[in-house]
Amino acid sequence: MSPSTLAISYFVHLVATVLWIGGLVIMVLLVLPTARRVVGEQPTLYAFLNRLRRRFVPIANLSLAALVVTGLIQMSGDPNYDGLMTFNNDWSRFMLMKHIAIIGMFFCMVFAQLTVAPALDRALLLLEKGKQEPAALEKLHRDETRLTWINVGLSLLVLLFTALATAL
Ligand code: HEM
Repeated sequence: MSPSTLAISYFVHLVATVLWIGGLVIMVLLVLPTARRVVGEQPTLYAFLNRLRRRFVPIANLSLAALVVTGLIQMSGDPNYDGLMTFNNDWSRFMLMKHIAIIGMFFCMVFAQLTVAPALDRALLLLEKGKQEPAALEKLHRDETRLTWINVGLSLLVLLFTALATAL
């Protein structure tokens, strides 16, 4: 594979990592605690977080797609790579563990986008119409925050296994 193709792939792989993983980390460490402290458990807080999520989801989905495509390019261009489902060296074993962590992130993301997010949208609409107790939104919001923390933990594992593979 030409060095320029690999360089472009690594560039896209790193930018996608910064956007997705960086976005998750900034969300749980800065945005969520600060927004909760400044706004409080008010409908405004949930409207702000719903809008933020709607802007972040396409970035996260696009980043994951870019990571898979460029990851496959990088894998096929790596001298340690001995073929699909072949784990006869430390590099491919670290890559396997990296992929298991990524699959975990994928399921957290799908669960959050297909169940928690729509439930939060519905609950906010009902809250604004005075037909919903704030407690229901607080619980859903806690579920979403917990899922995001799990994804941050898994993303640190992805970076750990990548560092171990790259060091070989
Ligand atoms: C959450 C998803 C992912 C993240 C955060 C991630 C992150 C990274 C990072 C930061 C690097 C280091 C690049 C460098 O050394 O300059 C890397 C390298 C790599 N990634 Fe990923 N990656 C992800 C998904 C994938 C996927 C899905 C694949 C394969 C299908 C993959 C395959 C690779 C390969 C082969 C390398 C090069 C490792 C080496 O140099 O030995 N990555 N990844």
